[in-house]
Amino acid sequence: MAHRKTIFVIGGTGAQGFPVIETLAASDSDYAVKILTRDVTSDRAKRLASLPNVELVTGTFASEVDLRAGFSGSWGAFVNIDGFNCGEKAEIYWGIRSYEIALECGVKFFVWGNLDFVLKESGYNSAFRTGHYDGKGRVGEWILTQNEAAQTSQMSAALFTTGPYIQMSIAKGTPMAPTIIDGVLTWKVPLGIGAVVHVDLDDCGHYVKWLFDNNKKASGMNLKVGIAHVDYHSLAKAFTKVTGKPARYQDISLEEYWAEPSRATGAQQPAGHNSDPSDPATMTRQQNFTGFWNMWKASGGNKGLIRRDYALLDEIHPGRVKSAEEWFRRENERGRSQGLGGLWDQLESGNAPHVLKSIEDGRRGRL
Ligand SMILES: NC(=O)c1ccc[n+]([C@@H]2O[C@H](COP(=O)([O-])OP(=O)(O)OC[C@H]3O[C@@H](n4cnc5c(N)ncnc54)[C@H](OP(=O)(O)O)[C@@H]3O)[C@@H](O)[C@H]2O)c1
Repeated sequence: MAHRKTIFVIGGTGAQGFPVIETLAASDSDYAVKILTRDVTSDRAKRLASLPNVELVTGTFASEVDLRAGFSGSWGAFVNIDGFNCGEKAEIYWGIRSYEIALECGVKFFVWGNLDFVLKESGYNSAFRTGHYDGKGRVGEWILTQNEAAQTSQMSAALFTTGPYIQMSIAKGTPMAPTIIDGVLTWKVPLGIGAVVHVDLDDCGHYVKWLFDNNKKASGMNLKVGIAHVDYHSLAKAFTKVTGKPARYQDISLEEYWAEPSRATGAQQPAGHNSDPSDPATMTRQQNFTGFWNMWKASGGNKGLIRRDYALLDEIHPGRVKSAEEWFRRENERGRSQGLGGLWDQLESGNAPHVLKSIEDGRRGRL
């Protein structure tokens, strides 16, 4: 086998990292993967460790020593810093430091796991301020500026901009988790006539590998991905079409959303569980996710605040998932073939899987 280039991955055991690693480390790929994790004994870490071309290293992104150990000897890097752990302020710091240290350690191509810089996109209107988007988005802009400068000859970079995973639309404990009310699957969210740019996690593997494979062309690129702009009436219709079970979207006000007992409890806690609640820079969950819903309310029909170039995505990934219906169909079949039941059965029995590792871990992990 030809020599594989090593890619250092931060966030590899997470929802987004998993499919990226499976694709990068696959037998027909040119890469081996080195994954940073705080706990090599977690179930997810052990599953990854059993794959060929995968190595795990213990450490945290909030340590220069650990970052240097990871970037050293690596040709590439995929960095998805968990802003829900460290909070917006620390994400900006560690995002910038990870780029600087990667460059110093001789990494050749750096991919930043990004989200739309919604505050800037809105013309700096605080109604749209969403810390977990703006933190990544600011770092992303800074990286692209560095990339234009002389350092490009040492290391080049690209952004991989995602959005809410479509898996979150049926998973437990997410901002858009549905409930069954009077036998009807109900999404009660403050979306108005807007739409969410949902992303299929499985497609992330293809896109990220494409960036590494085409690193010369991709230098300076901000690859913004998504399935489609999904309005929630269409989401509910698609669910019914695939499962034959009733579903609906109920638009509610932000006040009603935050008054829901399941949300009211944690609403005043920091959005990043390890950020300091007494720091004036720390956003609460309510502040953060109010901006989040305002963003999607203003993004209907691919004509508003957050947009995507779907023709470009078709070129890069012709087999990508293109609609919520297509995704529901695939997942319905997958659940059945794995003996978990169809989507409705999983939701009705309360067995819909967790998507995020941090939720599975109870949002308690150390920095
Ligand atoms: N939820 C969404 O729909 C969505 C969509 C797009 C982007 N994002 C962004 O993605 C990021 C989270 O990634 P995810 O969605 O894959 O979540 P996740 O499933 O909860 O995974 C979190 C990942 O971050 C790693 N991590 C957390 N703290 C760490 C630390 N101090 N040092 C090293 N690694 C650490 C975890 O690794 P270990 O536990 O193994 O250490 C794990 O791999 C967030 O910034 C979020 O804003 C989320």
